[in-house]
Amino acid sequence: MSLVEALREAVGADHVLVDADVRRSFETDWTGRFTGSARAVVRPASTAEVAAVVRACGAHEVAVQVQGGNTGLVGGSVPGGGEVLLSLTRLNSLGDVDRAAAQVSAGAGVTLAALTAHARAASLDVGVDLAARDSATVGGLVATNAGGVRVLRYGSMREQVVGAEAVLADGSVVSRLGGLAKDNTGYDLVSLLCGSEGTLGVITALRLRLVPLLRARSVALLALPDVATVVAALPALRERLPDLSAAELLFADGLDLVRRHAALPAPFADEHSCFLLLECAARTDPTDELVEAVAAVDGVLDATVAGDAPGQRALWAYREKHTEAISALGVPVKLDVSVPVAALAELVEELPAAVASVAAAARVVLFGHVNEGNLHVNVLDAGPAGEQVTEAVLRLVAGLGGSISSEHGVGRSKVAWLGLSRSEAELAAMRAIKRALDPHGRLNPGVVLPVPVA
Ligand code: FAD
Ligand code: MLT
Ligand code: ZN
Repeated sequence: MSLVEALREAVGADHVLVDADVRRSFETDWTGRFTGSARAVVRPASTAEVAAVVRACGAHEVAVQVQGGNTGLVGGSVPGGGEVLLSLTRLNSLGDVDRAAAQVSAGAGVTLAALTAHARAASLDVGVDLAARDSATVGGLVATNAGGVRVLRYGSMREQVVGAEAVLADGSVVSRLGGLAKDNTGYDLVSLLCGSEGTLGVITALRLRLVPLLRARSVALLALPDVATVVAALPALRERLPDLSAAELLFADGLDLVRRHAALPAPFADEHSCFLLLECAARTDPTDELVEAVAAVDGVLDATVAGDAPGQRALWAYREKHTEAISALGVPVKLDVSVPVAALAELVEELPAAVASVAAAARVVLFGHVNEGNLHVNVLDAGPAGEQVTEAVLRLVAGLGGSISSEHGVGRSKVAWLGLSRSEAELAAMRAIKRALDPHGRLNPGVVLPVPVA
């Protein structure tokens, strides 16, 4: 039996896509920077079908490329070439919300937006939120240990996971969906799958914790002279605002880009170089406490506070539309780094020169999640110097004690620089884990670790 016949037997002929035109949207990533050809795109509808696909690929010694919503930004969601692309979007079942435990089970293909709507219908909420919510799947969010705009309050995706079910490289199924908050029975495979980027197992379902739904929100946009002033304001803001959920950093050039892209008005009468967006969420309107806290921040040049939903959306748009506004201008070198918060001002200071030293004509657009020291470094017009730009930026970050990947993952784009954030001993341990769980290196070859995994 041929591979395609075996795949059709596993999931049904309608869900095995071999036509090149039909495969295309699965084979190119969201940035347009990474693309690769798959033998076939396969869309199973259950864990059993996923296991059958993985076994069929194993029997034919063919690698598997795992894909969720394909919103990843590091090239890890698309094939390197010749894999069977396993799309999980049909695993979209949502269990009843367990209000007693404040938990829910969800298929790996459920989008963040669908999960959030489901939780809110039960007067609960999801701790993670990000602009790709309409397409990003819970399986992808866990596989990348995504962060987003609420890490300050609820942590990254790993902190939302209380159980998982996955198909391993040999086609066996591991399942821990009971949702026990305390369960000390050996190695935490579920946590190991978080952030594994599809290289250790195919996540098919998750048990997720839910957080209280705080309907009352308030958002402020502050204009400040520089990053040092923003960083200096954080401790007092966190102390004064127990309801603080988000603290986002943006700059004048990114704001101009977004305004032009989305036809938005200027937030302030005067021009300013640096901005901090804050969101508070509570049971009762937090606007007064937010206004007081903002008034107490040293160095504020201007500020606007929105207590109404349309006003809040308008302020969030200045931040949330950065990714699409940048991509509308071309394919950027997208780097997602973190440094100790105290080193953020120095990083922002030194970045332009570091990039200019290898790509004089390049344009650097910065924004990010300031509370985590997480900066998104987008470099447009790097031309043929993309690798040199990546090298220069990631070496600068490593020199400041930072990480080459804050929330997007390593994917295919940063494999060559993993040694800047991981010691040889750590890399050896990671290779050993990979070899133990995927001895033939069939799951997402070339993602996180180079091939072969020696
Ligand atoms: P995909 O892109 O399909 O895959 C991502 C990786 O996970 C790949 O390596 C893939 O093989 C693996 N994978 C996917 N599903 C599974 C599964 N079921 N089992 C095992 N492995 C799997 N990320 C952030 O962290 N914070 C942000 O604020 C943020 N904002 C974004 C805004 C925009 C506009 C866009 C386009 C992206 C943003 N992202 C952000 C990146 C992206 O949304 C996340 O990385 C997300 O977690 C990817 O989910 P996905 O379902 O699209 O996964
Ligand atoms: C964001 O914070 O908007 C995302 O991580 C996406 C990006 O970096 O472009
Ligand atoms: Zn981000």
